[in-house]
Amino acid sequence: MTQIGIPDIDPKLEKELLASMAEVEVLLRGSIEGKYPLVIETSRHLVDAGGKRLRPLLTLIASHFGDPKAKGIIEAAVVCELTHLGTLYHDDVMDEAPLRRGVESANNRWNNTVAILTGDYLFAKTSQLLADLGPEAVRLQALTFERLVIGQITETQGSSEGKTQLEHYLDVVADKTASLISASARYGAMISGADEKIMEALTKFGEEIGTVFQLADDIIDIASDSKESGKTPGTDLREGVPTLVTLFILESDDPADAELKKILSAPITDEAIVAQTILTLRSHSALTRSRELVAGYGRSAQKHLEILPEGPAKAALVGLSQAVISRTS
Ligand code: IPE
Ligand code: IPE
Ligand code: MG
Ligand code: MG
Repeated sequence: MTQIGIPDIDPKLEKELLASMAEVEVLLRGSIEGKYPLVIETSRHLVDAGGKRLRPLLTLIASHFGDPKAKGIIEAAVVCELTHLGTLYHDDVMDEAPLRRGVESANNRWNNTVAILTGDYLFAKTSQLLADLGPEAVRLQALTFERLVIGQITETQGSSEGKTQLEHYLDVVADKTASLISASARYGAMISGADEKIMEALTKFGEEIGTVFQLADDIIDIASDSKESGKTPGTDLREGVPTLVTLFILESDDPADAELKKILSAPITDEAIVAQTILTLRSHSALTRSRELVAGYGRSAQKHLEILPEGPAKAALVGLSQAVISRTS
């Protein structure tokens, strides 16, 4: 694997991206500075813990379809990571998650109030950066954030009338996660002044690969341990949040699944049952079926790349999407 995590990336492009990512890190850390030491400490907590920085990376790659040195690219990349970061603080409160990026979550280390307000502080910092990027950039952020919030709320509600559970789940995933990944790609195209058609293709690519990313993340909640993911496996099972694997089982009419269906139909509070259920799911055919579906969606996302001009940036997006798809295997 290459330093930037994209297989077979062009070495010159990789060098440029690494240099820009270093600028992103500096601005990211600079952006969370403020007057009140506790909030700086709580914000730094997850910035320092790491993370993949997928969203800013996508902004930077997309900017190579226009002028990657254009003013505002680094700022937009930081806007995407800061928005993401704020949602992580809030999400861990919602999911009562104890671990994030391999460290104790803010809600565990401090408390829910501190975690929620740290998230809000990060959104405030995002707006300050956006103010200098112009109304189109602000509008995109506002629309994205609206979708993200709707996705997070609707996840806590059951499927509404006229929608199957699977349709509801896919809508939730698109809103809560694909929205920001799509916007991350769009920002890169928008601010670098890329062609309109290219911007639209990158937006759609971001939307679909963003869905794949979340579906893969939900599989990882079952299939991987904390060392790999930096999170506690089984969080969705404890919260009773249905995901692809559990939905496939819940809709199964195989009598062999009857007991498992009963367990999966509500939040699981007993840790021994969580552990046992994870083991059962890891060898269940629903997991294989989910991975196949993710691969299929991944290929469909990659189709949006076809119209892009050939070159290192396009090849990097193909490589990046391949890495996102194979995260679950
Ligand atoms: C976690 O996102 C939340 C999801 C949308 C699945 P990431 O997996 O990108 O988290 P970090 O930034 O690498 O920690
Ligand atoms: C999180 O979804 C999506 C957002 C943060 C908007 P999850 O709850 O599945 O993500 P993880 O597993 O906690 O990272
Ligand atoms: Mg979560
Ligand atoms: Mg969640």
